[in-house]
Amino acid sequence: MRVLKNVNEMRAEAARLRNAGKTIGLVPTMGYFHEGHLSLMRAARAANDAVVTTLFVNPAQFAPAEDFDRYPRDFDRDQKLAEQAGVDILFRPDRGAMYPTAYRTYVQVEELGAKLCGASRPGFFRGVTTVCCKLFNICRPHRAYFGLKDAQQAFIIAKMVKDLDMDVEIVKLPTVREQDGLAMSSRNAYLGAADRKSAAALFEALSAARTLIASGTKDPAQIKAKLRSVLDSEPRVEIDYVSVADTESFEEVAEIAEGNLVAVAVNLGGARLIDNIIVETDRSGTRAARDERT
Ligand code: PAJ
Repeated sequence: MRVLKNVNEMRAEAARLRNAGKTIGLVPTMGYFHEGHLSLMRAARAANDAVVTTLFVNPAQFAPAEDFDRYPRDFDRDQKLAEQAGVDILFRPDRGAMYPTAYRTYVQVEELGAKLCGASRPGFFRGVTTVCCKLFNICRPHRAYFGLKDAQQAFIIAKMVKDLDMDVEIVKLPTVREQDGLAMSSRNAYLGAADRKSAAALFEALSAARTLIASGTKDPAQIKAKLRSVLDSEPRVEIDYVSVADTESFEEVAEIAEGNLVAVAVNLGGARLIDNIIVETDRSGTRAARDERT
């Protein structure tokens, strides 16, 4: 595995691969790898000639009061894990290379980026789409891999690619979970023992919602009441939102349908945690929601 820091070197490498007729799979990350990240790298490995993983804690997606400075970082460990997952190039540009002092251009998917997580994190999705656009231009992937753990992010990036006619396929992959169902996240490192235990409430709430949907409940208000009641049973958990939304508009739906996003966001012990499931119809025709536990 090669580690590149320089934007021009990465561009030259991408051009060399493309000119040789090789396909490039890209996995954008902010590092501190866990099985969620590694599952994307392995999927990219299986479907492409070359795998590029980017490691860049993107300042443009953090608000001034957010956790940019304390975001967990461990480059040596990340380097080993990426290599084991079959990554060919680990691209880790400096902040100054991505956003020089005179940087002025941002990419924004209107409306969608203001809903759900965007409502409590203004500017977050603008930062995400901007950095992904830049990374796509530098690394020139045929396919780029995103986790459904951050479902709104994955759908917004797919929308940017469609609207701006970018020639990259967005691949969305299931959420990888801990034994108790907690979605893996670099931010789980912030949780102390008591908060870590309480964090299981997110998946418990979503599982309860899934059971309700499977039993035929179509009223989103009932689903949201269930989500709230399970989350409220953990006093340490402070709800940011519970939502049953359509993944094209991120508007709340009037009746549950296949493909809807059932999502929760909470604050817990200084960490912001999110999780979701996507409603799907099973083979017997009853409504269920996909369990992405692995
Ligand atoms: P980061 O949080 O490092 O996540 C990188 C990728 O890993 C994202 O696509 C995310 O959805 C995926 N991922 C995280 N946890 C996962 C899990 N438990 N299961 C499956 N996939 C998981 O998301 C970002 O970085 C940034 O916003 C980025 C897209 C890199 C732009 O800066």
